[in-house]
Amino acid sequence: MTEPVRLERTSGLAVIVIDNPPVNALGAAVRQRLAKAMAEAVADDTVTAIVLTADGRTFPAGADIAEFGQPVVAPSLPDLCNQIEASPKPVLAALHGTVLGGGLELAMAAHFRVAHEAAQLGLPEITLGLIPGAGGTQRTPRLIGVEAALELMLSGLPISAQEAHELGLVDGVAGDDLRDIVIMLAKETPSVNPASKKRQHMMDGTEYMAQIALWRAELGDELAPNKIVDCVEAALLLPFEGGMDLEREAFAECLASPVSAGLRHAFFAERRVAKFPELKDSHARPVDHIGILGGRVAGAALACACLDAGFPVTVLERGQAGTTQALERIGRHYQREAAAGRVSQQKGAEALDRLTLTDDPAKMGSADFVLDCMPEDTARKTQMLRNLDAVLKPGAIYAANTPDQDVEALAHVAGRPADTLIFHMTGPGAKLAEIGVLRHTAPDVVVTAHALARALRKVPVRCAAEPDLVANTLLHAYREACDRLLLRGALPNQVDGALRKFGMVIGPYEMLDHTGLHIAHMRRKSRSTPKALMLLDRMAEAGWLGRKSGQGYYVYDFEGGAGMLNPKMVQLLEAERQQRRVELEAISDADICTEVVLALIAAGAGLVERGVVQRPSDIDAVMIHGLGYPRARGGPMHEGDQMGTFDVARRIDKLAEKDPKGWRVAPVLRKLAAERHRFSDLNAV
Ligand code: 3HC
Repeated sequence: MTEPVRLERTSGLAVIVIDNPPVNALGAAVRQRLAKAMAEAVADDTVTAIVLTADGRTFPAGADIAEFGQPVVAPSLPDLCNQIEASPKPVLAALHGTVLGGGLELAMAAHFRVAHEAAQLGLPEITLGLIPGAGGTQRTPRLIGVEAALELMLSGLPISAQEAHELGLVDGVAGDDLRDIVIMLAKETPSVNPASKKRQHMMDGTEYMAQIALWRAELGDELAPNKIVDCVEAALLLPFEGGMDLEREAFAECLASPVSAGLRHAFFAERRVAKFPELKDSHARPVDHIGILGGRVAGAALACACLDAGFPVTVLERGQAGTTQALERIGRHYQREAAAGRVSQQKGAEALDRLTLTDDPAKMGSADFVLDCMPEDTARKTQMLRNLDAVLKPGAIYAANTPDQDVEALAHVAGRPADTLIFHMTGPGAKLAEIGVLRHTAPDVVVTAHALARALRKVPVRCAAEPDLVANTLLHAYREACDRLLLRGALPNQVDGALRKFGMVIGPYEMLDHTGLHIAHMRRKSRSTPKALMLLDRMAEAGWLGRKSGQGYYVYDFEGGAGMLNPKMVQLLEAERQQRRVELEAISDADICTEVVLALIAAGAGLVERGVVQRPSDIDAVMIHGLGYPRARGGPMHEGDQMGTFDVARRIDKLAEKDPKGWRVAPVLRKLAAERHRFSDLNAV
């Protein structure tokens, strides 16, 4: 293993190079060696100035998040920053890549900073439920003033090198000769100029406090933003050391909060979910041209996603009418995007230039990746795939858009079992791409689908190709849990309200009304498993589609207006309760949230048990990106770990006593509970 930090001496300078791939995170080993290198450079009489720089893709992108929650190994990052700042010899930092969090704090402890022109600088700790904890809350306002400092910390968004220069966060911007420039500047031995001693942005205390009051008035009750403002206020009111003490305490408090634990879990879960075993040994096939079978809603949406990613796309539809409608649908999408300012007219026109519409299957011959979005009509599909078998080039991949059909059988009809898989985009704004791997799918086909998902800016999720894949299995469990609550006495508006307060982007019944009850009804009809409640089916059969038809769980006066609880729906619900002789219970908002989380954990454990997902944290990534689960809660499996798997299993057992059809503890959960293990113990794959 190479040393994570090297000290090079060159014509009177000490150049300290951090080399800890992939992002030069400031873990214990890096901090220890940095501290040692600094001490050596300071003690060396031949050294007149010190340059701090990094190899690889970036200057440190922060503290090592994986170390949080473990005992701190000395030196801590704030102590290291203080050591750097206290150097009697000038320290110059050369910044490139994503200079974030602790990385930027390290840079601010140096006496002079130059950034590469493409560098991004930021303090994103808030996105992890944290505050800058290595002097960031104290040095940033001293360097760039209270307003810009709070903007940087409370937004968590990075700024460009140019903006950083204009604000005074860096002293210069350089091109690819960044390190040479900084070495040259170091030879001119600039003065030692610690940020902690700067006062020019603090001369007008009244204005400073007015800014603090303005920002504070905008805050809710979340811990980290409030602590950031408190610490930045302390930067004015306390000596530097006092401010640092306050920051240290506030950082520890945030770190111990459930919100930070949830956000840090989400950070790793969404990276882990994209790790497919096939990536180790296989390479993606080249994909230069995408073919799409079917240009209705799903086909058109996929076509737009592929066009946006720069691919030439050929959409196959039936006859003149089919191709014309598909073209109109895709064209309307770009008109809407342009009207909303999300895409320029020119980009829209360029995307449409890459689009070909055809009713001739032979035109699919140039496609490398064919996405099947045809309606689920097995006879027609089979015929089409037989035709395509003769047309598709060797190595072309066939991807079914849904798992609803027997894709294994279709793979054989298409004459390419090794080249077939499921590619299912789902979630609000279709943020997820579920990649369903079939029995015979070749590893490089899986890797190609992964690469395509990335190119389309989707979170790729690998799953075994079972009906419903992952997101829809969880969605079904979620809705069933809510329906069981309705049956026992809750009302849709109570369930929606409780779950919105819990943090879901939208309540389940509001979502059903929004997407259309007929869609959920169709899906439910194809399921053989018993349903908790037939209310939705009754409504859909009566032609109540939700918003679209003016009534569903709610009634709507006009499109876009807020709904009132639908009294006719309540009558239907009461009738079903009476028919099933249900004893009504008083159900609290807390009961609703707990049961919903338990149902998601039970369903997630089932998916882990059956090997549909690779690891429990994949469930959390899918819930956050596919179903609007609050990121700050980390996901249901993470919440299960917080409750304790033993407690989770005990609670599910209790619910199963009353409702054995609705609740079951998967053996994997039973085993974890018995061994006092956590779901996260299974995440290391
Ligand atoms: N600590 C530990 N690991 C980190 C890390 C960090 N700060 N930042 C990134 N990584 C890891 C990722 O987990 C990933 O690991 P993997 O390859 O095993 O999955 C690897 O580095 C590459 O990361 P990405 O896949 O995210 O690579 P990208 O190129 O897409 O993005 C990035 C790079 C913009 C740096 C992005 O990783 C990122 O935003 N990182 C987090 C930055 C951050 O939040 N910094 C603040 C940390 S908190 C802090 O510094 C506290 C301080 O104030 C005391």
